[in-house]
Amino acid sequence: MPSRSPRPRSVASVAAALAMTAAPLTVATLPAQAAEARVDNPFVGATQYVNDYWSAHVEATAAQAGGDLGAQMQAIAEEPTSVWMDRISAIEGNADGPGLRYHLDAALAQQQGDTPIVVNLVIYDLPGRDCYALASNGELPATAEGMARYRTEYIDPIAAILDDPAYENLRIVATIEPDSLPNLVTNISEPLCQEAAPYYREGVAYALDALHDVGNVYSYIDAAHAGWLGWPSNAQPAAQLFAEVVGDTEAGFDSVAGFVTNTANSTPLAEPFLEDVQLGSTPVRSATFYQWNADFDETDWTAHLYDLLVAEGFPSSIGMLIDTSRNGWGGPERPTELSSSTNLDTYVDESRVDRRTHRGAWCNPDGAGIGERPQVEPAGYPESHLDAFVWVKPPGESDGSSEEIPNDQGKHFDRMCDPTFASPKLDGLLTGALGGAPLSGQWFEAQFEMLVANAYPAIDGDEPSEPDTTAPSAPSGLVAGAVSATSAEVSWDASSDDTRVTGYTVLVDGAAAGTTATTSFTLTGLDPDTSYAVTVTARDAAGNVSAASSALTVTTAEAGSGDDVEAPTAPGDLAASAATEDSVTLGWSASSDDTGVTGYTVLRDGAEVGEVTGTSFTDSGLDADTAYSYSVTAHDAAGNVSAPATVSARTAPGDQEPSGECAVTYTANSWNTGFTGSLTIENTSGADLTGWTLTFSFPDGQQITQGWSAQYSQSGADVTVTPADWNRTLAAGASVSVGFNGTHSGANGAPASFALNGTSCTVG
Ligand code: BGC
Repeated sequence: MPSRSPRPRSVASVAAALAMTAAPLTVATLPAQAAEARVDNPFVGATQYVNDYWSAHVEATAAQAGGDLGAQMQAIAEEPTSVWMDRISAIEGNADGPGLRYHLDAALAQQQGDTPIVVNLVIYDLPGRDCYALASNGELPATAEGMARYRTEYIDPIAAILDDPAYENLRIVATIEPDSLPNLVTNISEPLCQEAAPYYREGVAYALDALHDVGNVYSYIDAAHAGWLGWPSNAQPAAQLFAEVVGDTEAGFDSVAGFVTNTANSTPLAEPFLEDVQLGSTPVRSATFYQWNADFDETDWTAHLYDLLVAEGFPSSIGMLIDTSRNGWGGPERPTELSSSTNLDTYVDESRVDRRTHRGAWCNPDGAGIGERPQVEPAGYPESHLDAFVWVKPPGESDGSSEEIPNDQGKHFDRMCDPTFASPKLDGLLTGALGGAPLSGQWFEAQFEMLVANAYPAIDGDEPSEPDTTAPSAPSGLVAGAVSATSAEVSWDASSDDTRVTGYTVLVDGAAAGTTATTSFTLTGLDPDTSYAVTVTARDAAGNVSAASSALTVTTAEAGSGDDVEAPTAPGDLAASAATEDSVTLGWSASSDDTGVTGYTVLRDGAEVGEVTGTSFTDSGLDADTAYSYSVTAHDAAGNVSAPATVSARTAPGDQEPSGECAVTYTANSWNTGFTGSLTIENTSGADLTGWTLTFSFPDGQQITQGWSAQYSQSGADVTVTPADWNRTLAAGASVSVGFNGTHSGANGAPASFALNGTSCTVG
């Protein structure tokens, strides 16, 4: 593999360091154990795999740099970074590094005792890869043959290796196909993206299916970044597209653990000085830099996206990851206060920590720094539902070459990586890319030096380079609260740690009964008149787990002859039957109980909002066009509480005209004689539809050739669209997006009218 480094003298030392770390690994044969059950957040209670190949580059560059900078580099050499399966040969290993089994074996060797270890992988080889750029174009063409190779030569072998029982206790976290689905949202007018579109959809669904079958893989779909998808007009279609593609998998929503944002990008985690308020009478978001996008940073975007995804039906348990490897923006150029300018653009430009020329500048951005270290359950952003900060893009690896470099990976020269280029994609501004860059994925020493020097938070070169292995103190002060025949409340004092305690695990007779981020927990499902030994362990951000607290003996109340210990069944069929601008009406089917249900408790986003004896409830005083998550529990006279039923619902948009029973938007992106048509169909009838048929006629002899998310039949000009299995139910107020490719001969006018189940729709 030809590799180009801006400083050839460093290559030999890197090669020497690599040769050292490539020594064969001895992996102790582990005793056979049952595979671990799936967990909600795979990073909790786990350590993470450190890729020695990346560390060797860091250590070699640190040795070259010496001094304070070298010490800072050394301090991050043991951070976990993702292993990119960026082409078929990466599976077995190639000139750029060893193969998948090597990394998995090395992870087993790094595992400490029984503490689980996460291996971060990136799945990145779709047919027609990187359709809107050139630097990471891939080896597989956007053709049926490319798709077949993606399945059989790429995904299947990866899944087969991961499925090896030797690896069943690793927690594999997979970032799924960076940039692919986001490109279908914003760049579908690009012919290459149109060609790739069906393969991106099919390929992502195929990868999710294959990885889900393995059992211990946690897939996080790439969801671009705030400066790409943050606008509502991009964000909503993105959430719908994610729901559609995941809806096409065998396990549906169960096939994903969540989403990962900012992969290989440098959008900051937070803009500390800027808020989306008014400067005088002008909204800050209208500044040239933000172009009306209210999502200034990744905490905005993850919170925004989470709500949209839950409203699309994703379970509220999904988690978000943010790639913080290069979004620090520290160093001397970082603003330290809010600008006092009254000119909006000056005010924004002087206040923002993101120092790029334009938010679309993605290639080796000059001035960027390393961001937050990988961290589990980072505190401070509850609305973002963060599982972790991760380093998906290994800092120091190039995004693309600043000039043409021949290679056998399908990669091309993208002028977005050329510092002398003023790009039309950046409204004519210079790219701001660092010069002298090697091919994407190759070590770029000058960039690494810059990233470390500009890190924010700054890297302390005096820190030990060893990872944090100090466990928190064991919880103490464990006491019992309310105890019934079947439940017991326990609480304890907070543990301390050299870093940060992130949560606790409660164990009953030595077996984990649940985890919590607070210092209390209610045990349920206990037997009456029984004594249990309850202990608690604490964990920190690095996954270190404390010793167990001393055991507290909890004895449940006697059942007694008349005592009711049985909880009612969970409410059934919970659904939002109507939603207005400021209210949501929920309905469910009655729970049953041995003594009788006395009522239901309704919670919105975890807080109680109602107590009813019937099986419906209207929650009012809500904000328009906002997603809420509801749960309903049933209780009986003895206070036994059922498991919750949950549902998410969205209030209607504030400006919606109640003008029809359905509303349709239709857009077409044409090229030569082809086009992609996109339809969004909204049910405005106020009642759920349990099946739907959309009809319309093409005015110009257009012919549909292939569609997705629905079935299409065409007779002459007349088209009938019927749902796929998963979007057959169209709830009141909900919409569905479907699309197709077609041909036209010259004119490509939009259909004038649409009808849903025979009723004509408003057309937007
Ligand atoms: C490249 C990959 C590389 C990855 C991580 C991508 O831009 O295309 O080849 O593995 O970055 O550096």
